[in-house]
Amino acid sequence: MEALEARRAEQKRLGNQDKVIERHRDGRMTARERVDVFFDVDTFQEMGAFAHHHAKDFGMDRKRMPGDGVITGVGQVDGQAVAMCSQDFMVNGGTLGQVHADKIVDAIIYAGKTGIPVVTINDSGGARIQEGVDALTGYSRVFRQNVLMSGVVPQIAVIAGPCAGGAAYSPALMDFVVMTKRHAQLFITGPEVIRAVTGQQCSAEEVGGALMHASVSGNVHFVAEDDADALRIVKKLLSYLPPNNLRDPPHAPSKSIDLTPDARLDALVPSDPKTPLDMRAAIDAIFDVDSFFEVHALFAKNILVGFARLDGIVVGVVANQPLFKAGTLDIDAADKAARFIQFCDAFNIPLISLMDVPGFLPGLSQERGGIIRHGSKMLFAWASATVPKISLILRKAYGGAYIAMDSKAMGADLVFAWPSAEIAVLGAEGAINILFRNELKQAADPKARAAEIAVDYRQKFASPWQAAESNQLTDVIEPSRSRAVLSLALRNTLNKREARPAKKHGNIAL
Ligand code: HXC
Repeated sequence: MEALEARRAEQKRLGNQDKVIERHRDGRMTARERVDVFFDVDTFQEMGAFAHHHAKDFGMDRKRMPGDGVITGVGQVDGQAVAMCSQDFMVNGGTLGQVHADKIVDAIIYAGKTGIPVVTINDSGGARIQEGVDALTGYSRVFRQNVLMSGVVPQIAVIAGPCAGGAAYSPALMDFVVMTKRHAQLFITGPEVIRAVTGQQCSAEEVGGALMHASVSGNVHFVAEDDADALRIVKKLLSYLPPNNLRDPPHAPSKSIDLTPDARLDALVPSDPKTPLDMRAAIDAIFDVDSFFEVHALFAKNILVGFARLDGIVVGVVANQPLFKAGTLDIDAADKAARFIQFCDAFNIPLISLMDVPGFLPGLSQERGGIIRHGSKMLFAWASATVPKISLILRKAYGGAYIAMDSKAMGADLVFAWPSAEIAVLGAEGAINILFRNELKQAADPKARAAEIAVDYRQKFASPWQAAESNQLTDVIEPSRSRAVLSLALRNTLNKREARPAKKHGNIAL
C-alpha cells in the first residue's frame, strides 16, 4: 500500500514550482487543478495515470513524463458523468505522442460506449517532435474518434494554452469551442511561419487569439476570461444538453404552463417601418427568465443562436437580429445557424425560429464568397432536422430568407405570426421598383406615388393574411400571447416522430 501511495504521489508531483506560481498569477491553473475544479469533489476516476512513453532519444529519457502529459478519466458534474482529457503543458509541453494519443482516444471511445459528453482541455506544444510519425498517427486517431463520436455524444473543447498546427483540428471537429482570452492560441500556422513564408507581419493575437476566432473566423463559440470562467461556461453548456443522442435534453417541465399575456411584446415592433426591433428583448420576454444562453455571441451578430428554456423545456433558438446588418442572412450567419440547427437535431433539442428578416444580404462579396453555397446549408439543416420545429414571424419574412428561417413548407411543424408580419417575395421598395418602374418614372411626384403604392402593397401582399389564407400559418397571434402560444405548441409537439428514407447520409453543401 505504501508503495502504491508513493507511486501515486510521484505521479501527481508537479515539476517546476516557479512555473506553477507564474500560471496562477496569470489566471491559469495546472492541468490537475482544472480537473479538480471541474468535477464534483472526489468523483474523478483517472484512467492510465501511470502510462507514459519510453523514448530514449533527444533527452526524453531524462524527462519526467507523468501520465504522458495528459490527464484523462471520468468524473461527475452535478451528478452526471462526463469524460475529460486535460493536457498538461508542464509535462514536456503537453505534447502529443503515441501514449498521450492512446489515452485521449480511450477516453473518447469510453464516452461513446457509455453515452456521456467529452470535454478536452487543450494546452499543448502539438505533435511531440521526438516521436515523429507516431505523433502524427496519434493525431489521426484522435481526429477519427472525434468524427466517429460526432452526433453520438456532445464534444466540447477548451483552448487554454497553445493549440497549433494540425492539433487545432480536434477542437474544430468537436461541437463547441471555449477559449480563454489570454495565453491561448489556436492556429494552423503561427506568426513566425506566416512571416517566413509570406512576409506578412502579424501578432499571435491577430492570427489565433480568442477574440479573433470568436468574432472573425467563427472557430470559437465562447470567450472566457480565464480558466475558471472557461470551466463555468462548459458546465453551463452541459446543463442544457443530453448526455448522448439517445436521450432527451434535461427538460424540467413546469407543472402548469404560464399563459399570462406579456404586454411588453405588444410594444416591441416600432411604428416606423425603418426602425429595427431588438430581438434580444423578444427572446428575454418569451423564454424563461435568464434562461437564454447565447452561443457564438460575437460572430455574425445578425443572427442569434443559443439554448433556452420555455416553461422548463430545453430548446434551441435561432433568431434574426435586426440591430445588425438589418437582420439579413449572410455567409457567416448561414454557417452559424446551420451548424447550430444540426447540433440541436442530433441531440433531440426542439428548435424555435424567430423571424424578422429582410432577405439575404445583397452584394458582390457575398455572391463571390458563395452565399448560395453557404445559404443552402441553412435550408439543408432545417429540412433535415426531425426534432420539433416551431416558427414565429414577428415582422419581416422576405423571399428566400423566410424559407431559410424555416417556413411551414420547409418542415416547420407549427408557424405563428404577429399581425405586424410581412411575408412576401420582396420588401415593398424592391417589389414596387420592379412592378411599377414605368409608372413611377411618369408620376409627377414619384416618391409620394411610391409611398402610396407601398401602403397598398403591404396590405395586399406583405401581411400575414395572404400567408394565413394559403394555409402557411398555424395562426396569427397577439404578440403578448407569444410565450403562452409557443409554450403550448412546444408541449404539444414534444413527442413528434418523423421518419426519413434510409440512406447513408445526405450531401450538405460545404
Ligand atoms: C517536443 C516540445 C514541443 C514539441 C514544446 N516542447 N513543443 N517538445 N515536441 N512539439 C517542449 C519544450 O522543449 C519544453 O521542454 C517544453 O515543451 C515547454 O516548451 P517551451 O518552449 O519551453 O514553452 P513556451 O516558451 O511556453 O512555448 C510554448 C510553445 C513552444 C509556443 C508551444 O514550445 C513551441 O513553439 N513549440 C513547438 C510548437 C510546434 O510547432 N508544434 C508542432 C505543431 S504541428 P523542456 O524540457 O525544456 O521543459 C503539429 C502537427 C499536428 O502539431 C499534426 C496533426 C495532423
